[in-house]
Amino acid sequence: MSVSKAVTETMKRASWIRKMFEHGMELKKKYGEKNVYDLTLGNPMVEPPEAFKKRLLEVATMEEKGLHRYMPNVGYEDTRKAVAEALDRDFKIGLNSGHVVMTVGAASALNISVKSLVDPGDEIIIIAPFFPEYRFYAQNHGAEERIVETTSDFRLNINEIKNNLNSKTKIIILNSPNNPTGVIYSRNDYEELAQCLSDHKHSTGRTVYIVSDEPYRKIVYSDKRAPSPFEIYQNTILCSSHAKDLGIPGERIGFAVVRPGCDGEDLLINAMAFCIRTLGFVNAPAFMQRVVKTLQDETVAVEIYRKKRDRLYQALQKAGIECIMPEGAFYLFPKSPDKDDKKFVNKLAENRVLAVPGSGFGRAGHFRLSYCCDDHTIDGAVEVFEKL
Ligand SMILES: Cc1ncc(COP(=O)(O)O)c(C=O)c1O
Repeated sequence: MSVSKAVTETMKRASWIRKMFEHGMELKKKYGEKNVYDLTLGNPMVEPPEAFKKRLLEVATMEEKGLHRYMPNVGYEDTRKAVAEALDRDFKIGLNSGHVVMTVGAASALNISVKSLVDPGDEIIIIAPFFPEYRFYAQNHGAEERIVETTSDFRLNINEIKNNLNSKTKIIILNSPNNPTGVIYSRNDYEELAQCLSDHKHSTGRTVYIVSDEPYRKIVYSDKRAPSPFEIYQNTILCSSHAKDLGIPGERIGFAVVRPGCDGEDLLINAMAFCIRTLGFVNAPAFMQRVVKTLQDETVAVEIYRKKRDRLYQALQKAGIECIMPEGAFYLFPKSPDKDDKKFVNKLAENRVLAVPGSGFGRAGHFRLSYCCDDHTIDGAVEVFEKL
């Protein structure tokens, strides 16, 4: 066998994704594409705002020379300035372009953050239920993962986090609004966590960094913006992208932002610039950096997602399936009526609705539905839930 043992093993762990995909393909062949209701993928369906298309044309017709060359690894100064200024309008913590590294989506922001911070054997706390890629990102850089459960309503369990801190803890990855639950963590929870991490530093001398993964920051269903640990805890790196807020995940544009005054600030930013290079990203796409520079205040029509959330949520309620109402992102994470979530997901598939078992997100007994899909898919799924 020529493929690495480690990758072969990891692929086995991720095989449920492939199984779901293959199962979906079989069903689509059997019943026809239109008659299978696929709620598995978190692929944004709301089109980018008009301003995005206008800006694409503007950038495409720019006349200056050198627009497509290499650049500093951290990205263009003017784009980083625009990102810093837009974030600082919310956070008011004195951000400037020097705190921002433009990245190839949130995924690359997370990877350069982890790579810059961990030595082999250091631990990363991952909060379950979790975005499954976090485990692979930890593994990419030789870190040990430590899974900490949320409360039963998917809130941060500060006591559990506290119990899992030790002399090897280097990072806690947080994700709010959350994939897969749609929950938004509270400011109060962040304040408690910040206190707990400060106490830990006081007693052990070890800094624990929060890496706050916030690609759904603007996909929220109330008038208030989602709180962020970035505005509360000094040692935070914010990772985000325009995949969801502009609806352009395929364009791979995001950013990592280091909080001013965090421990080792200058060295950390230099390390992230170095890691974006050595991990082979080199720099974020030049064209997209220019495009998003002027779009920092634009967002897709969140109202479209809200309507889909409401329809599916009501259908689940009618079917007697317990579910927490998501406050953001575009996922529902209901309790599986069958204790065995895989069995229940198979039953849904027999009824031509494709969902993902909660086990894949580190919380068995649940399943995930993505409602970033067209209305036909939502209608079909609602019909099946009503029938069930
Ligand atoms: C929680 C979370 N983090 C990170 C990502 C990756 O985002 P990007 O496509 O910007 O790399 C996703 C994508 O679905 C996600 O759901």
